Amino acid sequence: MPVTTQQLIQWKQQRRPIVALTAWDYVIAHILDAAGIDLILVGDTMAIILGYETTLPVSLEEMLHHAKAVRRGVKNALMVVDLPFLTYQESFQQAMNSAGRILKETGAQAVKMEGGYPVMLDTVARLAQAGIPVMGHVGLTPQSIHQLGLKQQGKTQEASERILQQAIALEQAGAFSIVLEHIPAELGLQITQKLSIPTIGIGAGPHCDGQVLVTSDVLGLSEKQPPFAKIYTSLKETITKAVQDYASEVRERKFPQ
Ligand code: KIV
Repeated sequence: MPVTTQQLIQWKQQRRPIVALTAWDYVIAHILDAAGIDLILVGDTMAIILGYETTLPVSLEEMLHHAKAVRRGVKNALMVVDLPFLTYQESFQQAMNSAGRILKETGAQAVKMEGGYPVMLDTVARLAQAGIPVMGHVGLTPQSIHQLGLKQQGKTQEASERILQQAIALEQAGAFSIVLEHIPAELGLQITQKLSIPTIGIGAGPHCDGQVLVTSDVLGLSEKQPPFAKIYTSLKETITKAVQDYASEVRERKFPQ
């Protein structure tokens, strides 16, 4: 049965952990979906495969192009697509136009946007009222890299309180779920207990309702991983060995036989 946004909320109530990963193409999306991953995020960390240093250059057209490929590989998981930098912050109309294109053109069920400042809350509320499910994202928000860097957020009492209030406000605005990135585990716990919508943590401790990781980190393909990522296999080495074996066999005229 395809996963819905309501299902995620039920899973929170049942304390059934939600498993999420990122996908940027058909091949990986198909593997993740068949493996039973609950939520597939077409994140703007897609910057990695496009060779960008940060997520800032990723365009809406690039997200749409990759999300369409992911959609073709996803049958059951809930598919969420990131709104890239400056495709939603300018105005509510801009956000509606970008989010609307994502839902209409890719078949994704929801969008994700970073930040919980007051103007954003109005945008989330209006999108939710228009029937567009929105996933929030607070803590470390990589689109603000030039303000925040990539360091852990919410370390002081004041910063921790600010993130908690943003999360509460996003729920009140109508977000169906919220990503908590790179914050202390105690803050992850506090937010998770306070909200009725599911929290999906990435570097936010073990108490969140679900966890998400960037698939290229999990597979050992990223050039550098954040400190909270766990590498479950080293595909970079496997691929290097395979292509070197192929190259040797071609050079030695062993392939094709
Ligand atoms: O873009 C992304 O992949 C994300 C995850 C890190 C949550 O936002």
